[in-house]
Amino acid sequence: MIGRTNGSPVSITGLGVHVPERVLTNDELATMVDTSDEWIRSRTGIRERRVAGPDEAMTDVALPAARRALEQAGADASEIDCLVVATVTPDTMFPTTSALMADALGAPNAAAYDLLAGCTGFMYALVQAYGMVASGLSHKALVVGGDVLSKIVDWSDRSTCVLFGDGAGAVVLERVEEGGFLGFELGADGGGGEHLALPAGGSRLPTTAETVAERRHFVTMNGREVFKFATRVMVSSAEALLAECDETMDQVDVYVPHQANVRIIDHATKKLGVPEEKTVVNVDRYGNTSSGSIPLALADASDDGRIEPGKLVLMTGMGAGLTWGSALIRWTHSTNGAAA
Ligand code: ACO
Repeated sequence: MIGRTNGSPVSITGLGVHVPERVLTNDELATMVDTSDEWIRSRTGIRERRVAGPDEAMTDVALPAARRALEQAGADASEIDCLVVATVTPDTMFPTTSALMADALGAPNAAAYDLLAGCTGFMYALVQAYGMVASGLSHKALVVGGDVLSKIVDWSDRSTCVLFGDGAGAVVLERVEEGGFLGFELGADGGGGEHLALPAGGSRLPTTAETVAERRHFVTMNGREVFKFATRVMVSSAEALLAECDETMDQVDVYVPHQANVRIIDHATKKLGVPEEKTVVNVDRYGNTSSGSIPLALADASDDGRIEPGKLVLMTGMGAGLTWGSALIRWTHSTNGAAA
């Protein structure tokens, strides 16, 4: 799907992010599996990541982010009439994380649902909420993206456990006078789905003693295939959206790529011709936080002053599905101080 927005402008009026307190460094990981700080840093750019404690689930990480986003937007939770949570690590399959969050926040008027689109979840959720607000069905929407991948990563598999971290972000979407979202591009290719999967626990392979013994409830990944896919779509999605919106990369002030691996980001920036100072990179501190990745990067760029009202911001995500998505937005509100 690709399109530019027409009609009522809709924008992000509040942003909040949150990560668990516990920091897991590469050196500590090297005591758990056969790896090294040097290998992880040179192949991925990651130095450390946050991991949730045994009692922390998705809602525990996401609620502080949501509260901060509401506060920034000057919105009361009761005003939220649409709450979309993008995650592959819900507290439970049902009740949904969104329903639990609506209850905890005090948002009884919200239509609340979870959305599954792998690491691209936040981008898909943005488009959903945009459509709701632009159509007039929703007046104030809350979009949450986040994951606690530490709960579904195989901590004995060095090829995956070094890559991921936990974190969440949230944004409030409302109609504005001018500016806001200019367009979106979203895509999916289930043909490549097997390259990044959580094999068991669904209706294809329900949980049994065997699936547990065979460790089939953890993330599996064909790193090289995902790498090839990622380098391709990070460029093609951004280029297609810019062309659709009659904009060029030169006009983009801030580029916010999904934070999976610094080599994927470097490849995309070179191909797209984005200078380093316009590119947001924080994968070194958080690893790949899946649906939390783009809001966490938006928060960093807001706090360091790169994202401010008037700036043209391009975001591109990709992940399991396989899926990808981009959004182009003329920033309208100050989102400085998004960290809860
Ligand atoms: N420490 C040390 N050695 C390791 C580790 C590790 N943590 N992991 C793998 N190796 C070894 C492998 O066993 C292999 O050894 P061998 O040559 O003896 O067989 C060697 O390192 C090279 O392995 P490769 O897989 O070829 O390493 P590569 O340079 O491709 O990097 C990586 C691997 C980092 C996973 C890369 O393929 C990648 O980043 N892929 C994309 C991953 C990604 O972005 N996933 C998520 C995207 S979607 C989402 O966000 C959920």
